[in-house]
Amino acid sequence: MNKRVFWRAAAAYALVTMAPVAVLADDDDENPAIAYREAMMTLIGHNFGPMQMTLEGKIPWDDARMAGYGKELAALAGLNQMRGFPEGSDKGDTHAKPEIWKNMDDFKQKMEEFQLAAAKLGKVAAGGDRKAISAEIEATGKTCGACHDDYKEKDD
Ligand code: HEC
Repeated sequence: MNKRVFWRAAAAYALVTMAPVAVLADDDDENPAIAYREAMMTLIGHNFGPMQMTLEGKIPWDDARMAGYGKELAALAGLNQMRGFPEGSDKGDTHAKPEIWKNMDDFKQKMEEFQLAAAKLGKVAAGGDRKAISAEIEATGKTCGACHDDYKEKDD
């Protein structure tokens, strides 16, 4: 093979073999762990957000709705959150900081604190005691913030 033919063949080969890799690296939905945890957090946010807004007086208090949000939040929190954070899923289109995988024990502990708070909020929300519900919303919100402060990049 002369030099020119060799390089042409090498370039064609590279195109064929590298193309799928490039597509994978470009399309972040291809990373199932990132898609999983972002979907999970989005659903968590859709249940916690209205409770927080109720507390802030931005939407009127509705006992039945609060009980519903609390129940859904507790159910979501009870799922295996760590499924979204496997080793090696720190790269890609993500707001998860690489520190998660360097401080895994601390990250897991913060996750458990959130799960416990959300379970308690679910129970209290079913009872209709507004003062107790307010206190648990605040307590749960602190567990979101404690983790986000250390382990989530600010939104851009
Ligand atoms: C133990 C850590 C931890 C706890 C607790 C936690 N989060 Fe998160 N959250 C994260 C990380 C990490 C991300 C970034 C995920 C990514 O971009 O891959 C995130 C992302 C989010 C997002 C953005 C999702 C998206 O589509 O990018 C929302 C909304 C959110 N969290 C809400 C909450 C709320 C509300 C709570 C508490 C009720 C909470 N989180 C508790 C770690 C946590």
